[in-house]
Amino acid sequence: MEKKNIDWGNLGFSYMETDKRFVSNFKDGAWDEGALISDASVTMSECACVLQYAQTCFEGLKAYTTEDGHIVTFRPDLNAERMEASAERLEMPVFPKERFIDAVVQVVAANEAYVPPFGSGATLYLRPYMYGKNAVIGVKPADEFEFRVFCTPVGPYFKGGVKPLTIRVSDFDRAAPNGTGHIKAGLNYAMSLYAIMSAHREGYDENMYLDPKTRTKVEETGGANFLFVTKDNKVVTPKSGSILPSITRRSLVHVAKEYLGLEVEEREVFLDEVKDFAECGLCGTAAVISPVGKIVDHGKEICLPSGMTEMGPVTRKLYDTLTGIQMGRIEAPEGWIKVIK
Ligand code: PLP
Ligand code: COI
Repeated sequence: MEKKNIDWGNLGFSYMETDKRFVSNFKDGAWDEGALISDASVTMSECACVLQYAQTCFEGLKAYTTEDGHIVTFRPDLNAERMEASAERLEMPVFPKERFIDAVVQVVAANEAYVPPFGSGATLYLRPYMYGKNAVIGVKPADEFEFRVFCTPVGPYFKGGVKPLTIRVSDFDRAAPNGTGHIKAGLNYAMSLYAIMSAHREGYDENMYLDPKTRTKVEETGGANFLFVTKDNKVVTPKSGSILPSITRRSLVHVAKEYLGLEVEEREVFLDEVKDFAECGLCGTAAVISPVGKIVDHGKEICLPSGMTEMGPVTRKLYDTLTGIQMGRIEAPEGWIKVIK
């Protein structure tokens, strides 16, 4: 299989049109069998529910070339389950888990030429999503939906790769106390656009959002969960009903306990205690684990002892073990790796 002539090592996290995408439509109460198609455009009513009322949810996962030349994905069953939760919360029909995984496999296989080679630093990002397609003008759910999966080769989510980030404590909320923060609804990201752009305008890489009810506890960033490391090497990660249950974070908790023998606490994390941590990282499919060097709380700087030049030692071990599992260098727990080729 001849790969596309792409400068893999210099890819950022951006969209590149690839050859095939999977599409299935829901109409009259059932999903059709779906197909791989070449057309990257979508045509729909000007009054489609997704355009008027943002009835849409999505997922993100990656395909990797392993050291021994296989192409694999990482825990796609968990993305399917999370999309099921998102669909239910947004009054959308569930796309069955087995079919979700099959669609992912089909899209990767059909775009093999775009799967970055092992060691290139790039991966193939997959974006499953679903939206309400037919016209609705009163506020109500659609009854026709489209499920799609496309893919695009990507490099690091944050410019500068694994250089520590500077983030700020945000005055904006990304979720409401009984809202949709725990699902992957497009509307959560619409909520965050102003906050992310204003963070960038002020020179920060990302926002640290606080719990929307008391604004005293750490939640997550716009696209990743937090992991902290205490001075005595305990891994601490915020527990909250309004953050996205990150598959990367859940995997890292397992890696920390079972591979690295570290103690892990999943609990409420107060903003007040952040100054006492030794390391901080952002974890997610796109972010992998991106180290945080500095957190700015309204002019007050919290400088993590791990510094601004490299990842802290525990974050590094977590990163190396997780990516080792994903790239086939380290044996994965049962069921984590779906081999495509
Ligand atoms: N939190 C938010 C808000 C996200 O958008 C993402 C990305 O999917 C994550 C966390 C990380 O989740 P995962 O590790 O499943 O990619
Ligand atoms: C991901 O990590 O897959 C995300 O969805 C984060 C961001 C690109 C929205």
